[in-house]
Order: sequence, then structure tokens, then C-alpha cells
Amino acid sequence: MWRATVLTLFPELFPGPLDASVLGRGRAEGSWALETVNIRDFSDNKYGSVDDTPAGGGAGLVMRADILAAAIDSVDRAGRPLICLTPRGAPLTQGRARTLSEGAGLIALCGRFEGIDERIFEARGIEEVSIGDFVLAGGEIAAMALIEACVRLLPGVLGSPSSLGEESFEGGLLEYPQYTRPREFEGRAVPDVLLSGDHQKIAEWRRKMAEDITRARRPDLFERFHADGPIRRENNKEPKR
Ligand code: ADE
Repeated sequence: MWRATVLTLFPELFPGPLDASVLGRGRAEGSWALETVNIRDFSDNKYGSVDDTPAGGGAGLVMRADILAAAIDSVDRAGRPLICLTPRGAPLTQGRARTLSEGAGLIALCGRFEGIDERIFEARGIEEVSIGDFVLAGGEIAAMALIEACVRLLPGVLGSPSSLGEESFEGGLLEYPQYTRPREFEGRAVPDVLLSGDHQKIAEWRRKMAEDITRARRPDLFERFHADGPIRRENNKEPKR
């Protein structure tokens, strides 16, 4: 079973949104498992503190490497990568989420305060991942985003696997626009081609819309889409490092 273990100072935040809808059902049905480890349980003092003032001075507090090591070492890693959520990490991609979803699970380390003692990253082989170029107050919501991106790809968690192949990023393009009833909404009609019954034409239209939207909104993705060979495009795997 795919397992996520979250090391955090705020275990009460979990499962939170991860228990809603298809993810919650998937967890209840045993498609995946979630556990939390409270980093504070590994404090070595009566105050339960896990941080200290930064070496060299400055504002804020830094999470201690020895306490984080004790928390990490209490977890059975079982072949799972240890990922610290931080704005300085490698940007999370759909390809990384897919690769992670095909493995045994992950261990997420959520930072708080000003930072984490640098020595823990090398000492425990931690991979750093960011969910975007902005700063959150801590890694918990980023860990939830990462876990959700992985779990929804697990076999049996999402209802219809065929819809996965066509969504944004999976083919290297953003998703084409969707419509449903009513046929006219506030003077805006559903595009005629979608009501034509001509499946070839509909597929061509959707493909063109996906390309137009990607070119306009994400020229970076569009360029990569054209640069990548068809095989990588199809599998949407991470590029070889
Ligand atoms: N923690 C704080 N900000 C973050 C971000 N942008 N991505 C991942 N983890 C974070």
C-alpha cells in the first residue's frame, strides 16, 4: 500500500483536506495510508522546544538537526524518499508526482520557523521540493498538495482513469475548455463543434484549444512541449538526470 508519513509540529492539521472526496474514500478502502509524526515528541527538554537561535545571529529560530534526526530515524523508510517541503526546493511537477505515485510512498518533512539546520539535509539524504515561487508559513499545506497530487494518480482512487490522460500537464499541454448543459448560458453558446457528433473534428478542436491556451498562458510549457520528443510527451516521465 502507498504510504505517506508526515513529520510536523502540527499533526492535528492532518488528514484535513486529504480526507475529503475520492482521496478520503481511497484511504478508507485501503488504497493508501497516512501517518503523522509529531516532531515535538523528540524534543530533549522539558519545554518541548525543537528550535534554537541561528548561529551567526539574526532573527527567528532554526529547527535543530539532532531533534529532526531523531524524528526521522523513528520512521521506517521502507524505500520511500524523504522530502522536505521548502520554497528553495526543486519545483514540483506532474512528472515527479507520477514517479512518486508509482513508488512505495513518501516521507514529508514540514519546516516551520525561519529554517532548518542545513546539516540535516545531507545527513539524512533529504530531497527539497517546492510547490511554487511563493512562501508559505510552513511546509504542511505544501505537503498536503504533494500528497494529493500523488494519491489521485494511484490505481483505483480516481473514478475514471481515461480522464487522467487528457488533463493539464499529462500530455505536456494545459487542458482544453469543457462545457455542459445548458446549451446557452447568459448569451454564451456551447461551441457548435462539440454538438456536431463528429468525434474526429471534436478531437482536433480540443487539441487546437489546448495548444492555443498553453501558448498564450504558459509559453514556457509550450516551448518544452515542442522541444520534447513524442515518447517523453506520451509517458510524461521526468527527464533523465
Ligand atoms: N514551505 C513554505 N513555502 C513553501 C513552498 N512554496 N513550497 C513548498 N514548501 C513551502
